[in-house]
Amino acid sequence: MRDILPPESALWARIEDQARAVFLAYNYQEIRTPIVEPTSLFVRSVGEETDIVGKEMYTWTDRDESSLTLRPEATASVMRAYIEHRLDQRIGVKKYFYMGPMFRRERPQKGRYRQFFQIGAEAIGSESPVVDAEVIEMLVDYLGRLGVSGYDLLVNSVGCKQCRPAYHTALRDALALVSGTMCVDCQRRAETNPMRVLDCKIPADQPIIEKLPTLAGSLCEGCKNHFAQVQLLLNSRGIAYTVTARLVRGLDYYTRTTFEFVHGSLGAQNTLLGGGRYDGLSEDLGGPPAPGIGFSIGEDRLVLTLQDVAPKSEKDQPDALGARLPLYIAWMGEVAYRRAAEIAREIRNHGVAVEIAADSMKLKRSLEIASKIGAQRVLIIGDQELAEGRYQLKNMATGEQRSVTAEELLVIYDQPLSDPEVCAPEADKGTTP
Ligand code: HAM
Repeated sequence: MRDILPPESALWARIEDQARAVFLAYNYQEIRTPIVEPTSLFVRSVGEETDIVGKEMYTWTDRDESSLTLRPEATASVMRAYIEHRLDQRIGVKKYFYMGPMFRRERPQKGRYRQFFQIGAEAIGSESPVVDAEVIEMLVDYLGRLGVSGYDLLVNSVGCKQCRPAYHTALRDALALVSGTMCVDCQRRAETNPMRVLDCKIPADQPIIEKLPTLAGSLCEGCKNHFAQVQLLLNSRGIAYTVTARLVRGLDYYTRTTFEFVHGSLGAQNTLLGGGRYDGLSEDLGGPPAPGIGFSIGEDRLVLTLQDVAPKSEKDQPDALGARLPLYIAWMGEVAYRRAAEIAREIRNHGVAVEIAADSMKLKRSLEIASKIGAQRVLIIGDQELAEGRYQLKNMATGEQRSVTAEELLVIYDQPLSDPEVCAPEADKGTTP
């Protein structure tokens, strides 16, 4: 678990703002669910035999003896809320997005944390492959707008409740012959939940896993058609993908379409985001039929990817990948401070960030501070400027300095002049700085 500090936090905000803008454009609405849920919710949805439930959850017994868990993911919570609030009674496909912290007690490494952040979305109420394709299209759109490229989209179909039992049997039979030579976890999984073996990351097990039967051969007609439709719709949108037979994902609720976006810049933890369909999840939780599909982006990993693709020149700046400060105001003397505060108020009123020097100080010192905090321009207000009603404006990138009036300054920031009634300067009422 870690702190996220400025200037990096500005990149997080940009990622979240862009997600909101794009998801809203696809008619998703925000949902916020609690960080703590009954443990049984995740056992029933993510699955008892998964790594998440088996060994990664932060679970404790509350004072009333109920077992509670810090959410390791949010799809189960969204479905719980969907059932609890009878959201099925609303018309059409219900589309929700969320962002926030998730908790898994994994071994920390680059891109893997115990408190990490996801940005996710769920579309509930339709089995149509059109929804699958639109979900993926939205992700491609979002990553494109953020300037993320160079990822690979992997897709697969993990079948449904009808065709999966036959595959389980085939897999179990194949595993019976080889699991003795695999890792301890796989030996157990071979008995309890054979599909989880495909998810194993132990290098020595990989050649064995490569030879196991794949799901593709066991899909029923319905699942085969659904997957073919999804692929046709992706093709028609010009979205490139690779069908990856081993992509079963680490959670048990998936049916049919599963997908991941992987990015080379991330190293071992290269999955930027993952998602898929969960057509039986609502019923598993005691709800009405509510087929759905969604995804969660690992926000920590998206940040790492964006930091990696940012041009070096951008990283070297003091405000690297953070918000730039448009204006720093240096002032000398109490009267100058009042004028500085007035000007700052007018510019801030229009949403432009302004920092006023905390103290009256020598110009040289002010300029040093302004440069270190990455100010684009510095406005200088001293006795002479006050007397003339013209201020020195220094462009920190070019070093160019010119004299401007307050009105000209507002024009530079494309600001309409404020109404003097609304913006009556405090200083004129005799307040001290
Ligand atoms: P997941 O694959 O478990 O799926 O997680 C989604 C993403 O969260 C991963 O691809 C990764 O980027 C990020 N992530 C997972 N664990 C960590 C960690 N320890 N540290 C940093 N990032 C991590 C889900 O959670 C599903 N709820 C996705 C979904 C939504 N499926 C349908 N709807």
